[in-house]
Amino acid sequence: MTPPRTPSGHGDLDPKETERQKRTAALAAAELVQDGARLGLGTGSTVAYLLPALAARGLRDMLCVATSPATERAASALGLVLKTLDELGELDIAIDGADQIDQRRWLVKGGGASHTREKIVARAARRFVVIASAEKAVAAVSAPVPLEVLRFGAQSTLHALGSAQLREVPPSPDGNLIGDYLGGVGDPAVLAARLSCTPGVVEHGLFAPELVSDILIAGSDGVEHRSGAKRG
Ligand code: 5RP
Repeated sequence: MTPPRTPSGHGDLDPKETERQKRTAALAAAELVQDGARLGLGTGSTVAYLLPALAARGLRDMLCVATSPATERAASALGLVLKTLDELGELDIAIDGADQIDQRRWLVKGGGASHTREKIVARAARRFVVIASAEKAVAAVSAPVPLEVLRFGAQSTLHALGSAQLREVPPSPDGNLIGDYLGGVGDPAVLAARLSCTPGVVEHGLFAPELVSDILIAGSDGVEHRSGAKRG
């Protein structure tokens, strides 16, 4: 089945302008990283601009944790030093993209099917920086909400959620299936709690505001920096 389209708050933008904005946000985030940082690297096309920007800074003693095999390969090819999360424990900062960012700082992530690892890394970081082009800014998060689902009983798990479907994509690096919740979101905290306590749902793509410290959204006239306290 074709993955559902991610909602965009800004209609169809010129693809070149969207890429320029992703790169602008990524370059701004790279400037937040300091020598000696233990850094979490997200996944996706926005993060793909971050990796060369970090490599170009030539920071000393920086150690990175990648959230996907794709990021691991790209970071390694650029000479960034990779460790496992368990080798580093706590991270100073993690930087990642998002599919939707709303006014209350709720995120939807997982368009690239890496949201479980991304959420673990975001939680382990003292500072979690989200980078995005302007089209990712929405008034309120909505479906599709990505899901990582245990292979055993996957159809039964999705049925229990009411409106959800599997994506025709390879399994996650951890061997689970990827799908999307397609029903109403309403209060994201209530939906997040419901998804989290549904047996068979390994992780969902709703990221609570408590996980997020900085949001860098690049638009046509610069970068909007929304900062707040990370409490999760
Ligand atoms: C991957 C993610 C990505 O960060 C999200 O899908 C945004 O990707 P992109 O930067 O390509 O728009 O959550 O699981």
